[in-house]
Amino acid sequence: MTTSTRRLFSALAVLVVIGLLALAALALWPTHTRSIASLSNDAPDSQLVERGRYLAMAGDCIACHTAKTADAKPFSGGLAVASPIGNIYSTNITPDKDTGIGNYSLDDFERALRHGITPAGGTLYPAMPYPSYARLTDEDVAAMYAFFMHGVEPAHEENRKADIKWPLSMRWPLTIWRRLYGPEVAQGGFDAGRYDDPQVARGAYLVQGLGHCGACHTPRAVTLQEKGMDDFSDLYLAGGPVIDGWVAVNLRGNHADGLGNWSKEDIIATLRGARNPHGAVVGSPMHDVVIHSTQGMSDEDLQAVASYLKTLKPAAATPSSYTASDDTAKALTTGQDIGRGGALYADNCAACHRSNGKGNVHAFPPIAGNPSVLAENPASLIRLVLTGSMLPSTKAAPSNLGMPGFAWRLSDGEVAELVSFIRNGWGNKASTVNAAQVAGVRKALDEEKEAAEKHAAR
Ligand code: HEC
Ligand code: HEC
Ligand code: HEC
Repeated sequence: MTTSTRRLFSALAVLVVIGLLALAALALWPTHTRSIASLSNDAPDSQLVERGRYLAMAGDCIACHTAKTADAKPFSGGLAVASPIGNIYSTNITPDKDTGIGNYSLDDFERALRHGITPAGGTLYPAMPYPSYARLTDEDVAAMYAFFMHGVEPAHEENRKADIKWPLSMRWPLTIWRRLYGPEVAQGGFDAGRYDDPQVARGAYLVQGLGHCGACHTPRAVTLQEKGMDDFSDLYLAGGPVIDGWVAVNLRGNHADGLGNWSKEDIIATLRGARNPHGAVVGSPMHDVVIHSTQGMSDEDLQAVASYLKTLKPAAATPSSYTASDDTAKALTTGQDIGRGGALYADNCAACHRSNGKGNVHAFPPIAGNPSVLAENPASLIRLVLTGSMLPSTKAAPSNLGMPGFAWRLSDGEVAELVSFIRNGWGNKASTVNAAQVAGVRKALDEEKEAAEKHAAR
């Protein structure tokens, strides 16, 4: 080894040691949090508990903290949340003293909710959306605490350990993640003063904070943090990753694959009844949001959410567009040659969605100009055609309407032709789909079925 390479190596060794020390410091240095114990109340009045109940609903705690089995007690945990390294299980957040959070002080609760820190000082997986909940005001945290301590039935249910294998199961790297990408000190919270209109400010608080809409609807970096936590970023709510097989669509002002063509009333109709004249909510992730959370929100809060979403400028141009056209409808009704995709549509879909692609308001969603059909990533559409879907029944719109699945009937090539056809009919313009993409979704569905059977057999 020459002197210069030896020098280079010792310099590198020093750098590595400094790097490791920096990481250790990041992991071990205590996070400064602010006590809100003065807001604690051993005997809260029913009004505070009810306010907490409303906020917990707006935060959709129940969707993640309750297993999807018929006898699961509300908030008793045990729901598997998929992560790239294995399943994580949500915890029991009922006030049971042995297995739940019955021994949590208000400050313990605050640190878990806004900072992702457990009472023992460990860090939670960001599957718990604490980077969003960091926005919450002290008063809202205290009201929710009152609800969880006094408004929830205690359930004795042991927490389940994550299926993650060592060494990935070690939690200290999560602490480093939290220091790098997690919320800053609680005071960083939420700055309502940034918004001129108090209604928009309220909407921003609900969307960025309790609603944690960005946890699904914002793209994530390779290191898994959301690429923007608020409207400072053009990527905020610009369309997220695939969640349980469904694409969380762009909620910004893009006209084709965003909410640009939706009025405030359209947004409210969807958050309340899972459908509006532009489309319906498909897939379990957003069905859960509507059923457990948004449908119960007050008119005032839904107005605020819609007003805020309408302030979001379009994301950078996407390849999709929509310009209403009746060419496809004419071709379908006059029997012109419209290719294999068109013929498959006429045979399998037109009875409900009609040859004009407009469906039937309140019953069958339109396909023309539908942002979910035009989404850059066609994964949801392929899954929908293979599996079908049930419109969720809401208080605003009770329903038992469903769409059948076509997996048994159509080949991968046929589904590809069909989906390409609907993405480019009636004035829709979006990328086409190939058989390999369909095969990929079919394989994922088979694997999910196998995993579910294994789980049920246990
Ligand atoms: C998107 C899913 C999701 C949502 C929504 C969610 N949580 Fe969690 N939460 C989790 C998961 C998963 C964990 C466990 C994380 C871990 O083990 O590191 C957790 C952990 C917690 C903990 C720590 C519990 C313990 O046993 O120490 C508390 C407290 C908590 N959540 C409260 C809430 C509250 C209150 C809400 C609603 C405002 C909420 N969570 C919403 C997924 C979620
Ligand atoms: C029996 C009536 C029926 C048939 C046949 C049918 N659908 Fe549907 N479709 C529905 C209903 C109901 C929904 C709403 C489901 C939901 O919201 O969960 C829907 C939803 C959709 C959506 C999602 C719209 C959105 O807003 O996200 C698309 C796209 C779609 N169908 C395409 C098709 C295609 C392609 C076919 C033919 C292979 C087809 N449908 C056949 C009833 C039908
Ligand atoms: C658990 C993940 C998740 C969360 C949290 C979530 N969404 Fe969604 N959302 C989805 C998915 C997936 C879709 C795609 C469904 C579809 O194509 O119909 C969607 C679709 C939508 C749509 C379009 C529905 C349609 O008919 O095309 C709107 C509007 C929406 N979400 C608003 C919100 C708002 C507002 C929040 C926060 C209060 C929110 N979402 C939180 C996953 C989520």
